[in-house]
Amino acid sequence: MTNAPATTIPTAADAAQTRDIVKTYYGETLSRSDDLRTNACKITDTPDAGMRQMLANLHEETLARFFGCGLIAPPALRGAQVLDLGCGAGRDVYVLAQMVGPDGHVAGVDMTPEQLAVARNHEEWHRERFGYAQANTAFHEGLIERLDDLPLAPASFDVAVSNCVINLVADKMAALRGVRRLLKPGGEFYFSDVYADRRVPEAILNDPVLYGECLGGALYWRDFLAMAHQAGFASPRLVSAAPIEASDPAVTAKLGETRFVSATYRLFALDSAEAEPEDYGDAARYLGGIAEASEAFTLDATLTLPMGEAVPVDRTAALALEQSRLAPFFEVTRGAAHQGPFNQNPAPSPFSIAKGAATAGCCG
Ligand SMILES: C[S@@+](CC[C@H](N)C(=O)[O-])C[C@H]1O[C@@H](n2cnc3c(N)ncnc32)[C@H](O)[C@@H]1O
Repeated sequence: MTNAPATTIPTAADAAQTRDIVKTYYGETLSRSDDLRTNACKITDTPDAGMRQMLANLHEETLARFFGCGLIAPPALRGAQVLDLGCGAGRDVYVLAQMVGPDGHVAGVDMTPEQLAVARNHEEWHRERFGYAQANTAFHEGLIERLDDLPLAPASFDVAVSNCVINLVADKMAALRGVRRLLKPGGEFYFSDVYADRRVPEAILNDPVLYGECLGGALYWRDFLAMAHQAGFASPRLVSAAPIEASDPAVTAKLGETRFVSATYRLFALDSAEAEPEDYGDAARYLGGIAEASEAFTLDATLTLPMGEAVPVDRTAALALEQSRLAPFFEVTRGAAHQGPFNQNPAPSPFSIAKGAATAGCCG
């Protein structure tokens, strides 16, 4: 593989070889989180009490085979249709199954049969644990870059999530386009992943362990912004980021100058996809009512709306709060005309906001 701009479509042979490396890694090499050689994609947010309770409701094997970068739990999910890309053994699916409740549904997609077998083996156990009459989960074996091949209807999901997976997919453009197609108008792709401060050098890209551990395939963050726009999403909203440092000296030596962060972004499927935050004089007021946001609602790292207060917002935020499942909780006022870039700022770099305890290596 080469480190061309990420929009370059990989050859079929490259893509197949990448999938073989990843499948072997997650199906055979690793059997529990502790087997990871690094912990590159770990956002160090401490789960709140509600999340701790939901995690406590999970089967121990589901928890033990978690290989993600963080907690994928956007707010206001009650009753939602959710898709988890690269669901692995299903930890996030079963957390989300509790968040959407018995009237919502969560579908997981993964290509590694060993991981899916664990997810499926505990489906009935979780249904019973949650006290639901019917399971509100489903698992599909398939490729994230070929979502069209799966029995998933276009424009049928309110939210898609993914936890430390897109970096592993060879054709990331196909993955983003596939997700965009499956989201309803106003739908959201809320996902954590690993990003690099430059296009990853070939020595890292072609190292199977570094690839399997979510570093080799990490996107240069600015390529990601461009790709998200090309796939039809509005300007990405950066939620949080944490630095990654390799604790293993051999890994540090291989990484050289390249720096990595794990970051969570929200991408909205809106009827107008601005590439950057633009100022139209819009404002939004949080009316309250979201269980996870009792006093203020945080859309991303740069925008928090205290309840009852009208706050200036960029056009993408205004549209997201008008058109997504969040709409009932906000009053949005549109400004009269375009006034230039919002706050004179381009989208923030995940490297500029990454803070907190540096942990290294992928997933876990
Ligand atoms: C780092 S693990 C994360 C798993 C899960 N999200 C979690 O948090 O435990 C990556 C998962 O993505 C899956 N995966 C990677 N590339 C994929 C692809 N192209 N299509 C489908 N699944 C893929 C792997 O099989 C693996 O289960």
